Amino acid sequence: MERIVVTLDGPAGVGKSSMARELSEALAIPYLDTGAMFRAVAWKLGEGSWDWDEERLRAALKDVSFELHGSGGSSGLSLNGALIGDEIRSERVGMWASNVARLPVVREYMKAAQRAIGERSSLVAEGRDMGSVVFPRATVKFFLDADVRERARRRYEQLREMNEPADMDDLAESIRARDEQDRNRAVAPLRPAEDAVLVDTTHINKEQVAALLLSAVRERVGG
Ligand code: DC
Repeated sequence: MERIVVTLDGPAGVGKSSMARELSEALAIPYLDTGAMFRAVAWKLGEGSWDWDEERLRAALKDVSFELHGSGGSSGLSLNGALIGDEIRSERVGMWASNVARLPVVREYMKAAQRAIGERSSLVAEGRDMGSVVFPRATVKFFLDADVRERARRRYEQLREMNEPADMDDLAESIRARDEQDRNRAVAPLRPAEDAVLVDTTHINKEQVAALLLSAVRERVGG
């Protein structure tokens, strides 16, 4: 099969990660969770790093390197050789990630790191700007969306599975705040690429979304 890149963008809690995992499994290619990259950088640099000056940020990013290994559901991302774990998965670190993701220095660094990973293999890449900025020539682009209450409900289930404390109203509020920041930043704001397939998942279940995405990919690449 020739090298393909499938991009999945959309707001927080829409189910991009589980769809990216499903697609990568079905296509037997690696899956890149770019939200995890922003979360891991925010986690490593720490609270308040979004207020650092450019020079300090640039110096700190020199000591950061990512590596993607495995394929399908067993794709894994390492930061400086250590596998990134669930410590980055809280809503609090999600907001930290959104804070550092506004910074042009961080976005430039990430774009280069993500493209370098994409040059090495086929990829299902999920995030906010995969189709619009990082992989403009992707094979197929999707933009997933869903009502904010439904997204809060999905995130609630996810956090509960990880035994993280969660409250539905707090989650809806935090998701709304994060989306607003991601949609309104100056560099690479969250929005669909012009040629993205838009999918509203509010009223359809995971299996239906996965089937829909997979058939759109297969139509495009054949097979
Ligand atoms: O998908 P996520 O919730 O793990 O992402 C965390 C934050 O990282 C999100 O609120 C914005 C930022 N992000 C981004 O700006 N660009 C991406 N491609 C992925 C994530």
